[in-house]
Amino acid sequence: MAIERPRTLHGRRRGRRLRPGRQRLLDELLPRLAIDPARGPVDPAGLFDMACDDVWLEVGFGGGEHLTAQARAHPEIGFIGCESFVNGIAKALSLIDAEKLTNVRILADDARPLIDALPESSIGRFFLLFPDPWPKKRHHARRFVSPENLDAMARILRDGAELRMASDDMEYIRWMLFHTIGHGAFEWLARGPDDWRRRPDDWPATRYEEKAGRAGATCVFLRFRRRPRSAQ
Ligand SMILES: C[S@@+](CC[C@H](N)C(=O)[O-])C[C@H]1O[C@@H](n2cnc3c(N)ncnc32)[C@H](O)[C@@H]1O
Repeated sequence: MAIERPRTLHGRRRGRRLRPGRQRLLDELLPRLAIDPARGPVDPAGLFDMACDDVWLEVGFGGGEHLTAQARAHPEIGFIGCESFVNGIAKALSLIDAEKLTNVRILADDARPLIDALPESSIGRFFLLFPDPWPKKRHHARRFVSPENLDAMARILRDGAELRMASDDMEYIRWMLFHTIGHGAFEWLARGPDDWRRRPDDWPATRYEEKAGRAGATCVFLRFRRRPRSAQ
């Protein structure tokens, strides 16, 4: 019998004290948008008031700049955003509130239990943008890209679904490529250098990408397609 190791979420949960307006959004808006995977299986399409064409998932949305830009550009899609850093969640809520976005739901916690609670083949696109690189070798096991998480991602992604990842940490990029290509369920869509050096037009920049750009770092953008289950 496999022994399940308890999962630990590393990284900051809280930063500076929140302004009263942001705290109010956490107290009043978040409960209306929050998902609770502890209550059992989650039907993603059932989270939204409208009939969605598809549901897309972003893990570690930071301040929600990419999540809300995608939600604004695709009102027909339901968006699930997962983030464990309270100040980032509060910032995302301020964007959702200001733009009156109705197609976003939030998991204010570790994404992994939610991924496990989603049905197989229920997600059409998965975003993992500038995940914490955990550069020290002894911390590599904390990286979100791991064989275990790739199994979980492959399970919830529909055949043909897209997985998007980015980083400015070249060692993590090599790690992402090694593990994701090696996993077998994902096909890297790059045909030439421009496909990973240039961010596609339908991929809004995140705060970390802008920060990396200001520091003169190079960012890499990876797009994978979930292979059809019949071809694996
Ligand atoms: C380096 S930041 C990048 C934020 C954003 N994607 C961007 O590009 O600006 C990584 C974020 O992932 C979040 N995170 C890390 N592990 C997570 C997990 N298991 N579930 C949800 N969020 C996670 C962290 O709290 C952090 O805000």
